[in-house]
Amino acid sequence: MIVAIPKETAELEKRVSITPEIAGKLIQKGLELRVESDAGLASNFLDAQYSETGATIEKDRKKLFSEADLVLAVQTPTDADLANMKQNSILVCFIWALQNADLVESLKTKGITALGMDAIPRISRAQNMDALSSMSSIAGYKASLLAANHLDKYFPMMMTAAGTIPPSKALILGAGVAGLQAIATCRKLGAVVEAYDVRPVVKEQVESLGAKFVEVPLEEENTETKGGYAKELSKDSQERQKHVIHEHVKKSDIVITTALIPGRPAPLLITKEMVADMKPGSVIVDLAAENGGNCELTVAGEVTVAHEVKIVGPLNLPSQLANHASMLYSKNMYALLNLLIKEDQPNFDFEDEILLNTTITHQGEIISPLLKPKES
Ligand code: NAI
Repeated sequence: MIVAIPKETAELEKRVSITPEIAGKLIQKGLELRVESDAGLASNFLDAQYSETGATIEKDRKKLFSEADLVLAVQTPTDADLANMKQNSILVCFIWALQNADLVESLKTKGITALGMDAIPRISRAQNMDALSSMSSIAGYKASLLAANHLDKYFPMMMTAAGTIPPSKALILGAGVAGLQAIATCRKLGAVVEAYDVRPVVKEQVESLGAKFVEVPLEEENTETKGGYAKELSKDSQERQKHVIHEHVKKSDIVITTALIPGRPAPLLITKEMVADMKPGSVIVDLAAENGGNCELTVAGEVTVAHEVKIVGPLNLPSQLANHASMLYSKNMYALLNLLIKEDQPNFDFEDEILLNTTITHQGEIISPLLKPKES
């Protein structure tokens, strides 16, 4: 099988899908690796390192796509790239099928088999393939560092000859993978941390990281889907939530928001009235900026100031740690390929829950149950 590693072309994208270490392992599995020239440069992996593993460096992008049996990428390649791919060839990358119906249709029509790295089920057996977790964890870490950089205060308590500085107070909204990493990082930096999530099961995890869990009594008894994701709340519960969050943001120096609901716009947690009530100089880092934002005043991709509060709406934070993000993504991909490829050939065993959920299109059909009507 000929495997292509293209250079990412999306704006802000610095990661590469396969590092030289994993390229070597794929070659040992009997695959032929072709890497586009400078594919790893933005994440500090050089062409020479790929060549040493036995991979070929390809300058001609059209040739790279048109001869490949398997394309491994981070973001979905451009329409022109997809048009160059062979029928029945395989593409593995982030696809976000629920949000990209046109893309799914075009992959289906072109006869491309597409596997979504964002569609890997959150089950124990798939943990080493879980690119969403690897990337969210990086985002949570980096969000805390961004908050520290934008705040004009220390995070930790400081006892100095000139007097004692109290520790900063951080509030983390949404305690999934990114939120838990943000809690851990803010704690390591010395802040006093509180956190809130709509799923009460995370209370214990929040407390085990040394943060206080903010309780909000909600109308619904069950706020979690079978897959462990959050459900959208009733209007009444949203109002109760806003009331409690309002009281807590007023006291916080740093607010990091990470709340997402799969396939829906990000829930609005911080209104402009709440921002107006925050302390001057406070910082909000809104990790949901890419999905509409958890704060009403967030501008995606920008740092803005409203009511003397800095609001940071970062895009593609994992790319700001492109070297380690690529290492983890590449390992996630390798784990998935070990399941998919048996004796140099792909084996689409849809009895396997991981392959069934991850395969978006195959032989002109839509496969993933993700794209079929879901439980509410
Ligand atoms: P996510 O990125 O979809 O959402 C982030 C967080 O926002 C979630 O914790 C969610 O409950 C919370 N949220 C949503 N609406 C909210 C609201 N209105 N107010 C406050 N918080 C709100 O979630 P992520 O980080 O991808 O994790 C999803 C689930 O998958 C979690 O249960 C996690 O523990 C689980 N998981 C399981 C794994 C495994 O077993 N292999 C691996 C990774 C995650």
